[in-house]
Amino acid sequence: MARSALLNVMVQAAMKAGRSLSRDFGEVQNLQVSLKGPGDYVSQADRRAEDIVFSELSKARPGYAFLMEERGAVDGEDDQHRWIVDPLDGTTNFLHGIPVFAVSIALERQGQIVAGVVYNPIMDELYTAERGGGAFMNDRRLRVAARTKLTDAVVGCGVPHLGRGHHGDFLIELRNVMGEVAGVRRMGAAALDLAYVAAGRLDGYWENNLSPWDVAAGLLLLREAGGFASDTRGGQQIFETGGVVAGNEAIHRALIKTLSKPVALR
Ligand code: IPD
Ligand code: CA
Ligand code: CA
Ligand code: CA
Repeated sequence: MARSALLNVMVQAAMKAGRSLSRDFGEVQNLQVSLKGPGDYVSQADRRAEDIVFSELSKARPGYAFLMEERGAVDGEDDQHRWIVDPLDGTTNFLHGIPVFAVSIALERQGQIVAGVVYNPIMDELYTAERGGGAFMNDRRLRVAARTKLTDAVVGCGVPHLGRGHHGDFLIELRNVMGEVAGVRRMGAAALDLAYVAAGRLDGYWENNLSPWDVAAGLLLLREAGGFASDTRGGQQIFETGGVVAGNEAIHRALIKTLSKPVALR
């Protein structure tokens, strides 16, 4: 598959960071780990992967701005372009030896996501998308699943961790969704959740309390695979509200309706 120069730059950065994560994953017990808040870990592996992505992308496209999970916002002279990067999405999985994590890199041009890469180095699954060019996993073109009924659907979600509020709201949402779908999954890496919806592995996905770096690349993958995404009210304030609902058109619509139902009594 021929990739654009831009995607090549992003893929190289993601794969180099992925190789660093694979090495660190083999020696997870030797990594320095600190807490950013209750239940919210960051390790040497996150920082090493972020340094690699930062240096690769800065070299390839000098002047572009960054928004990265660990560094935060880094200004650039070019005010049209911004990289949105999660160097290790799924830190909790990583630190527990669960091989479900990824590097996520998106490029925003004039406020619009135009390219996205999500790479799981353990499975060697490389998800790529460019606006208008479709979404791919390795060389295979992606398409969201065709199931249209919630009763047939397997739906991913995110469980708010210790110290992150709204546990009660999540339980209400979960109860509503559980009552209508075939199955619910919690993978533990938002970028992969969206990639899995793009790949048709999950029929739908919802989560709250997310940050732009968790979802920027995954949202483009999803849309380029024919999927739909919104905030939990059906609007497009995903970065602003931190809430996301995703699926094909029918599942997306049905999930929004189900999530907003009043509390079921039984
Ligand atoms: C986390 C993962 C997780 C989601 C959390 C995120 P991190 O990202 O995406 O699935 O439930 O809300 O913070 O911290 O591992 O990059
Ligand atoms: Ca984190
Ligand atoms: Ca993340
Ligand atoms: Ca992260």
